Amino acid sequence: MNHGSPVVINLPKIEDPRGNLSFVEEENHIPFKIERVYWIYDVPGGQVRGGHAFREQQELIVALSGSFDVVIDDGRQKQKFHLNRSYFGLYVPARYWRQMENFSTNSLAMVASSTPFSEEDYIRDYEEYLRLRQI
Ligand code: TYD
Repeated sequence: MNHGSPVVINLPKIEDPRGNLSFVEEENHIPFKIERVYWIYDVPGGQVRGGHAFREQQELIVALSGSFDVVIDDGRQKQKFHLNRSYFGLYVPARYWRQMENFSTNSLAMVASSTPFSEEDYIRDYEEYLRLRQI
């Protein structure tokens, strides 16, 4: 099951003078069940993460702290999403090439995934990706 195009989801934000609170519910705010959560942190300036696509994995990417860009490449054009608020989540359906870059100091990228980790799910070869997308 895969859903549409990459899109920034405005997650709930409970504003409170004691501090704000946001959350995400599987199959409610996002169209999948969460099988795994991982996070990327301590990224040295100028470094790039990602640079691949997934056959099955759908994901939600949230900048829990700081900011970074997610560049989505559908094989024809690239779209850059700047994530800089912890109530924004970028939903990425399966079969989109994506790269994360321009990490700010102390940024923290949280990824909620629809699948357990599987190296077989990765498409790391861009030519293979284009063939998969029939471009
Ligand atoms: P990778 O997904 O290639 O990193 P990124 O796309 O963010 O640059 O993962 C880097 C390494 O970590 C790779 O050897 C696989 C391993 N890994 C796991 O073992 N489990 C996981 O859940 C993830 C995301 C990666």
